[in-house]
Amino acid sequence: MISGSCAYGRSLRPAGRAHERARARLRAGMSGMARSGHGGHSTGFHDRIFPTGPESEQIAEWLARLVAASETDGHAALELGVGVGRVALPLSRRIGDVVGVDSSPERLSVLRESLSVTPRPVVPVEGDMRTYADGRQYRLVYCLRDTFCMLLDPADQRQVLLRCAEALAPGGTVVLETHNPAAVAALHQGRPREIFFTPYPGEDTGLLSYSTRDPEKRTWRLSHIWFEEGNARISSTVSRLTEPEELDAHAGHAGLSLHGRYGDWHGTPYTGSEPMVVSVYRAGKTGDA
Ligand SMILES: C[S@@+](CC[C@H](N)C(=O)[O-])C[C@H]1O[C@@H](n2cnc3c(N)ncnc32)[C@H](O)[C@@H]1O
Repeated sequence: MISGSCAYGRSLRPAGRAHERARARLRAGMSGMARSGHGGHSTGFHDRIFPTGPESEQIAEWLARLVAASETDGHAALELGVGVGRVALPLSRRIGDVVGVDSSPERLSVLRESLSVTPRPVVPVEGDMRTYADGRQYRLVYCLRDTFCMLLDPADQRQVLLRCAEALAPGGTVVLETHNPAAVAALHQGRPREIFFTPYPGEDTGLLSYSTRDPEKRTWRLSHIWFEEGNARISSTVSRLTEPEELDAHAGHAGLSLHGRYGDWHGTPYTGSEPMVVSVYRAGKTGDA
């Protein structure tokens, strides 16, 4: 099935437009075009789909408020899978030091380039989030889009939550953004394979995506062709369909408990149907101060 919808369609109401943008990003694969533990990824077109701008400012604002409310000491923040710094850059303006770990030298070099143009207290570090440890304690440890779901082995996901817990200052906060497996299922309408086309602003610009969902293996593969002004680029991604309850179990294993779950970056409570899930964890049992 080919479905067309413009993520920026003028006819949509603002709320509908936000929802449609979120769905378009889900079709594009929240994970973008990178694979866990490997470098050498495109830095081009998925930064068109997830641009720096009002949305990354909104995420940074939301995270900064969490840090301000947590009344904890320690280094400001650690981002796992920082990419080109879409959120680390605006966040550092608000809270100070952000250490950004990423396994892709290419993406880190784009981040370094931005820092050389506009210096900010962001420290890019090449590393693997499954093993990264620097001995510091952070007020906030976070992982965005579905970088976490790019870990296909649940043991790796558990390991990352252990690393998060170890890196957390007392009273600190862990924030994970993941895709919602139920929304992926809804996108597929019961079919194992789907094709989507999403036009983007600009001449001859859009994303053609071939999506394969395997509920048994709990994987979701997306192969994309990005068309722009007569050129085409290909990329693919695979992620693990990770239920929020599974995240909570991994977090519990690491001594963290759920303090809030949201369906967007405006603090709207998660209802189960949103394309993305924002989970907030703190050390200790639920309800602990
Ligand atoms: C979907 S992008 C997210 C980038 C950024 N956080 C954002 O919100 O725009 C995922 C990033 O995670 C990185 N990554 C994937 N697996 C990783 C791993 N095991 N350790 C560290 N970084 C990883 C990729 O190189 C990529 O830059």
